[in-house]
Amino acid sequence: MKINDVVFKRKHLLGLKGVSAEEIKFILEQAESFKEVLKRPIPKVPTLRGKTVVNLFYEASTRTRISFELAEKRLSADAINFSSSTSSTKKGESLRDTAQNIEAMKVDMVVIRHGAAGAPHFLTHWIKGSVINAGDGCHEHPTQALLDMKTLLEIFNDLKSLRVAIVGDILHSRVARSNIYGLATMGAEVAICGPSPLIPPEAENWKVKIFHNVDQAIAWADVVMVLRIQLERQSANYFPTLREYHNYFGITRERLEKAGKKIKIMHPGPINRGVELESDLADDPEFSVILDQVTNGVAVRMAILYLLAGEVGSQSTGGTLKLICCGALREWIWGTLEFIWERSISISAFQLHQTLIE
Ligand code: CP
Repeated sequence: MKINDVVFKRKHLLGLKGVSAEEIKFILEQAESFKEVLKRPIPKVPTLRGKTVVNLFYEASTRTRISFELAEKRLSADAINFSSSTSSTKKGESLRDTAQNIEAMKVDMVVIRHGAAGAPHFLTHWIKGSVINAGDGCHEHPTQALLDMKTLLEIFNDLKSLRVAIVGDILHSRVARSNIYGLATMGAEVAICGPSPLIPPEAENWKVKIFHNVDQAIAWADVVMVLRIQLERQSANYFPTLREYHNYFGITRERLEKAGKKIKIMHPGPINRGVELESDLADDPEFSVILDQVTNGVAVRMAILYLLAGEVGSQSTGGTLKLICCGALREWIWGTLEFIWERSISISAFQLHQTLIE
């Protein structure tokens, strides 16, 4: 791939607002190449060997954190994990000081999750390397939306005119915002649905359909993206009880059967089973693509790390896959040489031992 072929030339990935359809398509094409790598018996390439990535997580995470770490390791980068609960943040160290210390240790990339919207943008002023937003407050979660779009493309082939209804706590959801920007850019029709207090006032400017009745949203949609009620971000009572929320907005088999549609169910996780989504529906492969989303997360994050590391274009091979294959061949040759070296040492040791006892 020549540098001129590269559509995505950004240094950071802070959000999907303003990212073009060509850029999104390009990222998802790279992700598809990495998905092939992940199916190999040895799902690892040396593409980011020598690069150091710090995963800076100030908020809890299961999927995003493991997925980034796995993506980094699959690309042979050195992955360092930071958790605010076991770091000097506990002793009062600021984000700026943490960033400056990380910078002093010469890292190439920082993946950050933070409770404050804008924290990844802030970090770009203190870090010379690339910054990837792994979720900032109620603002954006761009890699989640990219993996969601990859999952949808695998099912529907095209996002144009696809109807996606995002149901739940839109007010506090960075996943909703990134998906609204990304899906609209890719030509999908997006609707949001939830109790009025959980629909933000700025939604009027998002060019999305707004439903307050979940049966109407299901009747309209090809896909329902279900969101968790983010109690940890709520400073007020937005609805009487979780039971009441489930009764009015929970996605249930009965509701889908009433609509008579085989729609796809997505969820970024973590799921609160029996609240926003009926438990057995989350596990039903006829409807649920939730674990496919998780699988695609690793490939999408590999693509982002690879593109931001600026490795593309530095080698004039014919395409990402060829680049990966060259790396894999190099890895294989090294592995074979190491194996021969180790064997020759153990054979020599065996021969020496035999000589001594004879
Ligand atoms: N989807 C998502 O961000 O999940 P985690 O909070 O577990 O990372």
